[in-house]
Amino acid sequence: FSAVDVIRAKRDGVVLTDDQIDWVVDAYTRGVVADEQMSALAMAIFLNGMRQTETSRWTNAMVRSGERLHLSVDRPTVDKHSTGGVGDKITLPLAPLVAACGAAVPQLSGRGLGHTGGTLDKLESVPGWRANLSTAEITRQLSEVGAVVCAATEGLAPADRKLYALRDVTGTVESVPLIASSIMSKKIAEGAEALVLDVKFGSGAFMKTLSDARTLAEALVGIGVAEGLKISALLTDMSVPLGRAVGNAVEVAESVEVLRGGGPADVVELTVALAREMLSLAGLPDVDPAKVLASGAAYETWARMISAQGGDPEAALPKASHVHVVEAPESGVLASLDAYAVGVAAWRLGAGRARKEDPVQAAAGVLCLVKPGEPVEAGQPLLELHTDTPDAVAGALAALEGQYAVADSAAERGPMVAETIR
Ligand code: URA
Repeated sequence: FSAVDVIRAKRDGVVLTDDQIDWVVDAYTRGVVADEQMSALAMAIFLNGMRQTETSRWTNAMVRSGERLHLSVDRPTVDKHSTGGVGDKITLPLAPLVAACGAAVPQLSGRGLGHTGGTLDKLESVPGWRANLSTAEITRQLSEVGAVVCAATEGLAPADRKLYALRDVTGTVESVPLIASSIMSKKIAEGAEALVLDVKFGSGAFMKTLSDARTLAEALVGIGVAEGLKISALLTDMSVPLGRAVGNAVEVAESVEVLRGGGPADVVELTVALAREMLSLAGLPDVDPAKVLASGAAYETWARMISAQGGDPEAALPKASHVHVVEAPESGVLASLDAYAVGVAAWRLGAGRARKEDPVQAAAGVLCLVKPGEPVEAGQPLLELHTDTPDAVAGALAALEGQYAVADSAAERGPMVAETIR
C-alpha cells in the first residue's frame, strides 16, 4: 500500500477497502504514514465522507491500535457517553445510581476542552480524589463498588489520540464519521457490553440542531451494532444549562444534592431517563432507578466510589475567593438563558481550559440562580460568577451580554429527551 494511493482514492470519492483502512490506521499509529499524509486523508474524509461500513472498519482499526479491556465482573457492564454539554454533570449521579441498581459501570472519561466541562476535572475538585487507575484497580473497583469513573489508560485506542490531536489543528474535527469513530473506538476498547449515548443538540452542544444530532447518533449506533454492542442513543436538549451549577466543584455539590434525593428537576429527570435505558440494555429492566435514588443507596455507592479513588466524600469542596452577582434587569419571567454563553462564561472564569495542558480552577463556575420559565423581580440575583481570578469577571460578563432575557412570559420548552434511537 501507499499512503498517496489511499489519499487519492478518498479524494476522488472512492470507497476505501477494509485492507486500505487497516493498513493506513496501523501505519499512521506506527509513524510510517506521516502527519501531513494523515492530514490530507482526514480532509478528504471530511469533504467526501465515509459509508457506514468504512466508518465501522475505521473504528475497528483504531480499537486494534491498542489494548482492549476484558472486564471480568459478575454483573452486566454498561456505560454512558455524552457528546458534551454545559452543566452536564450527569455521570456523577448516574454511575453510582446504575451501580446501586445492580449493573457495573466502567466509565473511562476525559477532560474538558473549550466551553464543555470534563468529568475528570469536576471530580478532581473532591479533595484527594485521583483519576489515574491501573487496569487491575479498575477491575477490582468494578467488582467491589460497581462503578469506576477514571482517566482512559494510555493503551486505549492510541490511533485516536494521535489522530484527534491532528484533527484539532487541521480543521477536520467536525466530520460525522471522524467524530463517531473517535468516540466509539475508545468506548469499544473500554470493554463494556452495553452503551447508552446521550447525544446533545442545541446551542450548548457540538451539534446545534436535532437533525444533526440524529445523524451523529445514527452513525454512533451503527458502529456499535457492527461491533456487537448493546447500544442506544437518547437525543437530549442542550439549549439551556443542565441544572443550576456550571463548573467543577459547584457541579459536584449539585450532584451530591441529587444523590441525596434533592437537586434540580432537569438533572434528576435526565439521570433517571439514562439510568432506565442503561438498565434495560443491561438486562435489568425491572429495577426502578427513581426509587433507588430516593432510597439513598446511590449516595452510599457514590461515597464508596469516591473513597476507593482516594477522595473524601465528606470533605468540604473548594470555594471561590471572589463571587460576582448579576442581577435581573427587570421584573417578569426569565425567558431565555443561552447554554453556550454560560459555558463560555464558566470557561473564562477558570473552570475550563484553552489548551490541553492548562490547569483548571476547582471552584470557578457559574450558578444559575434562576432558570428559564421561573419568575424574577428586578434586582434579584440571577447569576453568580465564581472565580479565584477576579480579572476574569469582565470576560465572563461579555460572554453573557445579550444572552439572557426577562419578559412577560417564557416559551414552553420541548421535552428533555426528544428521541430515542435503538
Ligand atoms: N469527542 C471525541 O472523543 N472525538 C471527537 O472526534 C469529538 C468529540
